[in-house]
Formats: sequence, structure tokens, C-alpha cells
Amino acid sequence: MEVKTICTVGAGLMGRQIALLAALSGFEVFCADTSEEALQSARDFTKSWLAKQREKGRVTDAQIKLVDDNLNFVNDIAIGAKDADMVIEAAVEDLGVKRSIFARLDKIAPSHAILATNSSYLVSSKIADATDRPDKVLNMHFFNPALIMKTVEVVQGPHVSDETVETVMEVSRALGKNPARVNKEIYGFLCNRIFSVITKEACYLLDQGIASVEDIDSAIKGALGHPMGPLELLDMTGIDLEYHLGMERYRETGNPADKPSPALTEHFAKGEYGRKTGKGFYDYEKK
Ligand SMILES: NC(=O)c1ccc[n+]([C@@H]2O[C@H](COP(=O)([O-])OP(=O)(O)OC[C@H]3O[C@@H](n4cnc5c(N)ncnc54)[C@H](O)[C@@H]3O)[C@@H](O)[C@H]2O)c1
Repeated sequence: MEVKTICTVGAGLMGRQIALLAALSGFEVFCADTSEEALQSARDFTKSWLAKQREKGRVTDAQIKLVDDNLNFVNDIAIGAKDADMVIEAAVEDLGVKRSIFARLDKIAPSHAILATNSSYLVSSKIADATDRPDKVLNMHFFNPALIMKTVEVVQGPHVSDETVETVMEVSRALGKNPARVNKEIYGFLCNRIFSVITKEACYLLDQGIASVEDIDSAIKGALGHPMGPLELLDMTGIDLEYHLGMERYRETGNPADKPSPALTEHFAKGEYGRKTGKGFYDYEKK
């Protein structure tokens, strides 16, 4: 199936980047959000990101024109999805919200359209039955910053057809990504599972007083070749996000090992969420 028109649902942190990336890659794009504030902020982001990239010689005037021509911001998914060959949902991480968006998309989008979710942790089999096209509903998981990070996880739940997966792998390549095909649904897919094992262990070593924040990060960078240490990375992705995910997982499994670590919990309780609050495992105001 050929994909020419893409609709992103959500103009937040991820939706606006996926929309811009798709427009830069030559797709016609509709970026839909219910919040006028989010849409305006996404427009401003697009303009300033392109201006900065042009200054650095990384985008051309022709590419900026392509985005001008191809990227539309709309305040209703009914406008955005009505002619879409593919929808990428990047609204809030809430199952109820996602199910109601997908039920609505199913009524609006053409019958051939693929409906993908960028959810970090909700597998598409929890959403697909809200539609009459479960074979075309799947996880397409980007990483932040989506304009830069090369990996996209394409997940084949039991209800997803091979054709849908292959089309989404192809679209991912057209977006300049290296898609990883995940053959079965699993909580956290590939990267977040591995990331959470590393960060959990880093927090455990910190809690036990085995090594300092700085030594844990620099050891991992120097020994494993990671560009960032696990605690630095937690500061970047948000200690609040990690805390909530840990608590949600614990509520689901009842396994105390899934609870956020004492070090993480302490930072969360103090409102030290990482870079966005100026303090987390590191103090960014001092830095
Ligand atoms: N932030 C990350 O690093 C990251 C990385 C990968 C995946 N994700 C996933 O991507 C999704 C979006 O995350 P985000 O960080 O961009 O969130 P965000 O809060 O920045 O943006 C979500 C946007 O969705 C909009 N929205 C909510 N309900 C809507 C509806 N019914 N119709 C249209 N728009 C609606 C909101 O107004 C908001 O602008 C989540 O599922 C998240 O788990 C996030």
C-alpha cells in the first residue's frame, strides 16, 4: 500500500516532531490537536526549528518550502484524518483517551488507512478492538527527539497483518529511520525494557552507596560506549515519568521489585524531575 498522506493526532512534544519529520520527508501532513495552545506552540516550534537548522546549513530553502506546502495544523481530527492513508496517534498516554480517539478515527479515516499509536507502553491489542480494522492498528514507537533519533519500533500484535507491518516499516524508512520489527507484543517493547533494566540497576547501586551518581554515569559511558550515563538520561527523560511508570507497573503486577527505587522516589517527592525543573540527579542551575 502506498502512503502519501499522514495525519498525526496530538501536536505535543512528539506529535509536532513526527508531523514535521513527515512533511520534510515529502508526505502531505495534517497535525491535529484539540488544544489551540498546543497547535500554536507546534507552529512556533516548527518555525524556529527550521530557522535554526537553516542557519546551521542543515535544511535548504526548498525543504522549508516543502514544509510550508505540506504541513497543515488542524483543530479537529475529522479534518486531519478524512483523507489520510496513515494516522500516527501521539496524544496523552491514557488508555481511555486512546481508545476513544481510535474509535472516532475508525469512523473518519478511509477504510484502507493504517492507524498507528506512538504509545510508550500501551500495546495496540488494548486499543485495536475499539475499531473495525484491528489488522491495521499497531504500535509505531518513536523516541524523543523524534526528529533526530533513528530508531522506530514497529510492533506486530497478534491482530496485525503482515501487510500493515511491512507498510509501516517502509514509511519509517521513508522518514529516514532504521525501524526495528518487534514480532510480538511485550510491555516496554525493546528499548524501554533494556533502558529500564539499566536505570533500575544504576538506582540500586546508588541506593546501596556502592558508587556516586557521577561515577556510575562515567563508568557506563567509558565502559559500554553509551553517549549518556543512565542517571543523566533519567534526568533528560524525566524522573516524574519514570516514577509514574514504575508505580503503574507495580499496581499492575503487585511485584515490589517494580516499585520506583528510593533514590528516584526521593527526587520525585522533592519535585526534582531532572532537567525540566533544573534539578534531578544533577543540579543544572549550578552547572
Ligand atoms: N515524551 C516522550 O519522550 C515520548 C517518547 C515516545 C513516545 N511517547 C508517547 O507519545 C504520546 C504523546 O506524548 P507527548 O510527550 O507528545 O505528550 P504531550 O502531552 O506533549 O502531547 C499530547 C498532545 O495530545 C493532545 N491531545 C489530547 N487529547 C487529544 C485528542 N482527543 N485529540 C487530539 N489531540 C489530543 C494534547 O492537547 C497534547 O497537545 C504518548 O502516548 C507518549 O507515551 C512520548
